[in-house]
Amino acid sequence: MLDIAFSKPALPKAGALVLLIAEGAAPEGLAAQLDTEMEGGLTRALEAASFKGRKGQSVTLWAPVVTVTKLLVVGMGPLAGLDAEKLGGGIYPQVSGETQCTVAADGLSAAQAAAIGMGAALRAYRFDRYRTTEKAEDKPKLDKITVLAADPSGAKAAHAPMKAVAQGVFLTRDLVSEPPNVLFPAEFADRCKELTKLGLEVEVLGPKEMRKLGFGALLGVAQGSINEARMVVMRWNGLSGGKKKAEKPVCFIGKGVTFDTGGISIKPAGGMEDMKWDMAGAGTVTGLMAALAGRKAKCDVVGLIGLVENMPGDNAQRPGDVVTSASGQTIEVINTDAEGRLVLADVIHYAIEKYDPKLMVDLATLTGAIIVALGHEHAGLFSNDEELAARILAAGLATGEAAWRMPLGEAYDKQIKSDIADMKNVGGGRAGGSITAAQFIQRFVQGRPWAHLDIAGTAWSSKDAPIIPKGATAYGVRMLDRLVADHYEG
Ligand code: BES
Ligand code: MN
Ligand code: ZN
Repeated sequence: MLDIAFSKPALPKAGALVLLIAEGAAPEGLAAQLDTEMEGGLTRALEAASFKGRKGQSVTLWAPVVTVTKLLVVGMGPLAGLDAEKLGGGIYPQVSGETQCTVAADGLSAAQAAAIGMGAALRAYRFDRYRTTEKAEDKPKLDKITVLAADPSGAKAAHAPMKAVAQGVFLTRDLVSEPPNVLFPAEFADRCKELTKLGLEVEVLGPKEMRKLGFGALLGVAQGSINEARMVVMRWNGLSGGKKKAEKPVCFIGKGVTFDTGGISIKPAGGMEDMKWDMAGAGTVTGLMAALAGRKAKCDVVGLIGLVENMPGDNAQRPGDVVTSASGQTIEVINTDAEGRLVLADVIHYAIEKYDPKLMVDLATLTGAIIVALGHEHAGLFSNDEELAARILAAGLATGEAAWRMPLGEAYDKQIKSDIADMKNVGGGRAGGSITAAQFIQRFVQGRPWAHLDIAGTAWSSKDAPIIPKGATAYGVRMLDRLVADHYEG
């Protein structure tokens, strides 16, 4: 993890220096000091480059004074709408080849200085565990950024919880990036167990326990694979350090299909490798729990994940099978590739029976149809509760992890009626596929406040973004951390 330090404004003794200038503004503070040292050379350079401080604008000067190897002047745009995380994330690739870097944020608030560090750290993430031949010169050299702030101790304090959240994000990205031969259900559960060191209570259930609980829907998906299913329950009792108990906890539930071949309703070969990240819902819940524990959130939260591998083995479930879920409701499995909802059905039922949650949020890479509807810019949000939905949308806007509300209703629910069982696991046709999937899940929530995030389009990115290098995004960790912080702590 990129180390982020904060200190008082002073020209650095060595390395790269980044100056931040708002749109239309002249160099101030440290930038003005450097300009003086350069005998007005900074102002002249910015003029010559027609630098106006616009967002995305930047000017590079090599070795302008003996103590600075590279000077990068970055435009912030108008200060009013500044997204300091994105600013920090945008700076990182421009300095990652340096060995030392100082960012002068002396004109910004402590919170903004902290957010610049957070953004840079989020962008600096790499999953390079399986690269053995990469040349040193191709690797980023920078391992630390020093942010200069008017109030460095304030910035450091503001950064501490952010760092815990970043660590949660990285855990999620690691889990989601792992290849499916490495990260199968038992291995995923083992990684969750390591979180006890953060103060989380972690419990792992295997097929035997789940059979006792009547998890016919989840186990039906798992039965085609030699890799056994697991359910992991992670509890954070953060209310008054675990002494006080919330009347009812918040529950987060994740789909953890460590690989989705489609089962007997097998998927086409093209792009099937993407189905290694069909456990992103579970990965997000795990990273979120690590983030909440890491920053010692004052709340009681339970994270539950259902882990299975969906394979077409000789014991695989067939289209036409009828399974009995833990809730007692029976399901006709029309398509074995609509497996995520089967996993969620049993885990959600368990969450309700065991933890009596005041609300539940599930995350799942559930449908290709949500990508058709919303692309990669928004996750699909489905909810039976107006207040919860509004809070999630707001937390999404605040963190840049956007969601878009989708409808639920009788007419969609009708489409999953079965001729032989209580319901079938797919709607009649492809139309409204994300909605019929959500209707299916809703049949297991017993009318409790519930939200479902379909993250099939947002869990993985094929291109770099300011605070997200391409690959696993960890979409939802920062959003739901914010949801908890804003409404369910104290
Ligand atoms: N894991 C997939 C959904 C998915 C698709 C996630 C693309 C990420 C990217 C899910 O299990 C699935 O296969 N859904 C089917 C449902 C259909 C059979 C009703 C789909 O979307 O095609
Ligand atoms: Mn599937
Ligand atoms: Zn799936």
